[in-house]
Amino acid sequence: MAGIYLHIPFCKQRCTYCDFHFSTNFGSYRKELIAALCREIHLRKTEIQTEIQTIYFGGGTPSLLENEELSLILTTIRKNYNVSKTAEISLEANPEDVCEEKLTHWKNEGINRLSIGLQSFKESDMKWMNRAHLASDGEKSVRLAQELGFENITVDLIYGLPQLAKDEWRKHLELVTSLDISHISAYCLTVEPKTALHHQVKHNQMVTADEDTQNEQFELMIDFLNTKGFEQYEISNFAKNEQYSKHNSAYWQGVNYIGIGPSAHSFNGKQRRWNISNNTVYYKNVGVNNSWFTIENLSEKEQWNELFLTGLRTKWGVSKKTIEDLNSFSKAEFNLLLDYISDNLIIETETSYVLSNSGKIRADGIASSFFRI
Ligand SMILES: C[S@@+](CC[C@H](N)C(=O)[O-])C[C@H]1O[C@@H](n2cnc3c(N)ncnc32)[C@H](O)[C@@H]1O
Ligand code: SF4
Repeated sequence: MAGIYLHIPFCKQRCTYCDFHFSTNFGSYRKELIAALCREIHLRKTEIQTEIQTIYFGGGTPSLLENEELSLILTTIRKNYNVSKTAEISLEANPEDVCEEKLTHWKNEGINRLSIGLQSFKESDMKWMNRAHLASDGEKSVRLAQELGFENITVDLIYGLPQLAKDEWRKHLELVTSLDISHISAYCLTVEPKTALHHQVKHNQMVTADEDTQNEQFELMIDFLNTKGFEQYEISNFAKNEQYSKHNSAYWQGVNYIGIGPSAHSFNGKQRRWNISNNTVYYKNVGVNNSWFTIENLSEKEQWNELFLTGLRTKWGVSKKTIEDLNSFSKAEFNLLLDYISDNLIIETETSYVLSNSGKIRADGIASSFFRI
């Protein structure tokens, strides 16, 4: 089993909080960039011998792709790889791009999972975040996708915004669960370096929500979504009836994947590879002397740290077998584990260690306490 991630590095506007790799000024070279993506897809076909079970268009804003560009990318993938007939093929879409014509094309091309970035149901949040759509566009885009036959829809929300009161967050959760969708990703706002939000916070133009408020909204979300039948299978991801994201679940469980496009990451079990986060250098250099990516062999320490960082965030937890394969716990680490178990922060199952609900709120802190330096 393997997956392909494609990073589409274009956005219409710069959201104030976002530090993902993208450009808002790409008109002059988009043709060259799409050609470079296809070149990389072709060049890397020998890296994957097994069937492709998942393809994920992420970004940036993949819904900005013209129909012909999307078709070209998918045709190039199908020509060069053995794509399973039942593969999950996901595309991240921003509400302002969702229209009947694009939805029909996506469906015809085999896109069978849409991830729509609603973020909030409040108009003033859209302005604050500098989103390129109205809050009301979010719901409309989901309804239209449903009318055109998309059954597997997930939406993204953000909580922990400075101006988001607890009651408003509850309202957003009520609204999102009334949309008849099977999956929700909800991210707590983080202030990332080099973003407009970071600049505002640094210059005291913005006061962010405090940790207690963010934790309160996190707990409210877990309880509320549970009562609506959504299972939290990863810290930020909730699914009804086990309709997990196959692509992300595979990634969290250490399955091999290749990442195509500027800034995309790849993983083959032992090595991590990342492409350059610069569109121009990327499209000019793909195929030239390996100069568009960096490869790092993961040391045993790094594999161990990665195992705890990603594993503890999921309902599958950290596998006992993988812990054994990496020479097991030291005495100090094992004592730490026992403390977490007796404090009911970690639960031991037959095959793994998983976080309890109270552990989830401290997921990153608990994971990093097991890190080997
Ligand atoms: C990078 S975007 C790509 C998809 C699409 N362009 C969109 O905006 O929905 C993926 C998700 O990451 C979220 N995200 C990006 N930066 C974030 C931050 N600093 N804090 C919380 N969520 C963030 C976005 O809001 C979005 O839901
Ligand atoms: S949140 Fe999405 S649309 Fe906004 S800048 Fe980031 S990638 Fe682009």
